[in-house]
Amino acid sequence: MLNAVVIYESKHGATRQYAQWIAEDLQCRFVERKTVDINDVKTADVVVYGGAIYAGGVSGVSFLRKNFQVLKSKHLVVFTCGLSNPADSQNTDHIRERLANTLTTPVMGQTKIFHLRGAIDYRRLNMVQKVMMAMVVRPVKKKDPASRTAEEQQMLDTYGNAVSFMDRASVAPLVEYVRSL
Ligand SMILES: Cc1cc2nc3c(=O)[nH]c(=O)nc-3n(C[C@H](O)[C@H](O)[C@H](O)COP(=O)(O)O)c2cc1C
Repeated sequence: MLNAVVIYESKHGATRQYAQWIAEDLQCRFVERKTVDINDVKTADVVVYGGAIYAGGVSGVSFLRKNFQVLKSKHLVVFTCGLSNPADSQNTDHIRERLANTLTTPVMGQTKIFHLRGAIDYRRLNMVQKVMMAMVVRPVKKKDPASRTAEEQQMLDTYGNAVSFMDRASVAPLVEYVRSL
């Protein structure tokens, strides 16, 4: 199996947990983006980057673009960790659009992307995050209940509390992909 490293950025721990599960399965290191030294990545054949989704963007993923001179000779894998359901292609299309803008064509073209579902505890958010989530929820609340999607209704039902969609088994396709390289 090729030598891999998992790099992640996580504010509340969900992305970190996925990074840890993936690293356990691949028997490799997992490192927080803020502490990573690009020289330590030079020996890896596969770089897996995991970023939490905030306001549609994948945290810290520009790391791949900024370090592409070093990374372009490697297999690149990105996993995203958000609350929206990745089984809905509308959700993943949005994420991929934003990724394409951030990563630019050369990096995007070389990157295999996976989407994982995270968790949220509204009580642990800071003030800015609470305000942002209130802005997301407000128009959904105003909608006629009959016209809400199942995901919107679920968001209203769990708003203010803790909800987790974390699933260890969901890392399997990514792990299998890296093993197949
Ligand atoms: C302010 C805020 C904005 C968010 N925006 C999105 C979003 O645009 N799309 C999404 O799927 N999830 C969104 N989320 C949910 C997070 O992606 C989810 O909680 C994720 O598990 C966080 O990962 P972390 O624990 O590694 O930070 C948002 C959460 C907060 C608090």
